[in-house]
Amino acid sequence: MKVAVLVGAGSIGQAIIRRVAMGMHVVLADYSLANAEQAAKTLENAGYQCSTIKCDLGSKEDILNLVQFATSKGDVMYLVNAAGVSPSQAPVHHILQVDLYGTSVLLEEFGKVIAEGGSGVIISSQSGHRLPALPQEQNDALAMSPCDELLELPFLKQITDTLKAYQYSKRCNVLRVMYEATRWGRRGATINSISPGIIITPLANDELHGPRKDGYLRMIEASPAGRAGTPDEVGELAEFLMSKRGRFISGTDILIDGGTTASYWYGDLQYLKTTH
Ligand SMILES: NC(=O)c1ccc[n+]([C@@H]2O[C@H](COP(=O)([O-])OP(=O)(O)OC[C@H]3O[C@@H](n4cnc5c(N)ncnc54)[C@H](O)[C@@H]3O)[C@@H](O)[C@H]2O)c1
Repeated sequence: MKVAVLVGAGSIGQAIIRRVAMGMHVVLADYSLANAEQAAKTLENAGYQCSTIKCDLGSKEDILNLVQFATSKGDVMYLVNAAGVSPSQAPVHHILQVDLYGTSVLLEEFGKVIAEGGSGVIISSQSGHRLPALPQEQNDALAMSPCDELLELPFLKQITDTLKAYQYSKRCNVLRVMYEATRWGRRGATINSISPGIIITPLANDELHGPRKDGYLRMIEASPAGRAGTPDEVGELAEFLMSKRGRFISGTDILIDGGTTASYWYGDLQYLKTTH
């Protein structure tokens, strides 16, 4: 049996898995078992075969359990990581533990079992593209440090702001994917990340009703696309990356943000540089 693993059974994750996991066994892993079960019900009513498992992405033990659970169902062809916590949802240490450390462990552990011809997609964020270029030694440390040493990096320990924690985490996701591409490639698999802009989901709604809401609304209006994105648009991109047509793409990150990042650096959204 071929297996597709989704970590974070939310809106973006479900949109991806519906497009790629036909005829496979779908493992839905989420910190909230209720979310995973709800997603399983929706997918099962649409013809997918699913099982669920509680998994905290911030816990290595839970990730190792997930790997064992998934491999017991068959050959893991796909890994989608769409679990994460945003700056308005959690304190600094929690964001770093889940989004930065957890994603790094997940990449490493599934890189040991991914099947020949397999593929993975990690959902990063446009937010990581707003950090100025980091010194090379910080890039190298984020990309290549052993997972257990990541949270001890001095420049991460200095972070006091949740937005910065999120941005460093998402930058780390992109660098870690570059690092892992070699190991995944040796197994005949590809691994990439996608950096979405604002995509309307429960997570984005928390941001759009949180302390930064006015800034987000102005940013959406003034962006080149003039609107937020949808989970289905991210799903289409992931489907391409994970399909045969995407086999020459590995170790890269693709922005899907309606032009927001371009505008942040060189367009109408440059005013955000002082606040975001
Ligand atoms: N929605 C956006 O605008 C947007 C933009 C850029 C990046 N992202 C990223 O996309 C990913 C998916 O977010 P979404 O918008 O689909 O949100 P969502 O709220 O629909 O789904 C997120 C899911 O992750 C799960 N989750 C949270 N913490 C977890 C943990 N520690 N372990 C396991 N599961 C956990 C939640 O229970 C939820 O089911 C996140 O990594 C987020 O940072 C979202």
